[in-house]
Amino acid sequence: MGEANAPPEWQAYRLFYAQFRRHFQATGAIAPSGPALARAMTAPLAQAPGPRRVLEAGAGTGVFTRAILRQLEPGDELDIYEINPVFLPWLERRKQEARAEARGIRCTIHPCDLRLAPPGAGYDFIVSGLPLNNFPPALVAEMLELFDRCLRPGGVLSYFEYLYIRELKRALVRDPAERARLDAVATVLQAFLARHRHHSQTVACNLPPAVARHLTRNAVAAD
Ligand SMILES: C[S@@+](CC[C@H](N)C(=O)[O-])C[C@H]1O[C@@H](n2cnc3c(N)ncnc32)[C@H](O)[C@@H]1O
Repeated sequence: MGEANAPPEWQAYRLFYAQFRRHFQATGAIAPSGPALARAMTAPLAQAPGPRRVLEAGAGTGVFTRAILRQLEPGDELDIYEINPVFLPWLERRKQEARAEARGIRCTIHPCDLRLAPPGAGYDFIVSGLPLNNFPPALVAEMLELFDRCLRPGGVLSYFEYLYIRELKRALVRDPAERARLDAVATVLQAFLARHRHHSQTVACNLPPAVARHLTRNAVAAD
């Protein structure tokens, strides 16, 4: 997607909504995240000196990608994993807008499942847009373990959830199996949080309001 003939930005919303309807479980939201959530999700990057190695999981139309690339400097690296190929032109566009290559930033888009990422890669940061609350609990556990194995000790994982989303869904759904899934996902996420030093940042100015969670990988965690 060259910049001269690039479609207007609002088309990212249209595409996202179409994918939400087609692939509800993997897309997990009706619209891309807003800029305030992107700022919160990428805030930890500013705290580390370069060169920095960053992994982005579930990039969609690249709202977080853009915020990450703005912060990166020559010598930094970004690996992006996005499973849905329809989003790839938008991710290429973010790369071009940021002039990543010209600025000496190695930015690679991996059009595949995050589970194909090599473990033990030792990233300094992981920024995840994966819709964990939509996944089966075993997949949530698998993704969280993968994050731990991909981070260097002391590295930071940032992921987000919509505020009170599980509680809300739980109140609305009647299917006992779906309620049990939501409870099991909550248990997996809470256990993971309890094992890590973490802090949360509420972002009211997002549709829907969200909370960004930032976790530090334990220095003694096993590879
Ligand atoms: C809630 S959207 C977030 C998109 C973007 N980060 C944002 O905040 O606007 C979740 C994204 O994760 C992607 N995704 C879901 N499962 C994935 C997987 N196993 N590996 C890589 N990407 C995945 C979806 O295709 C979708 O683009």
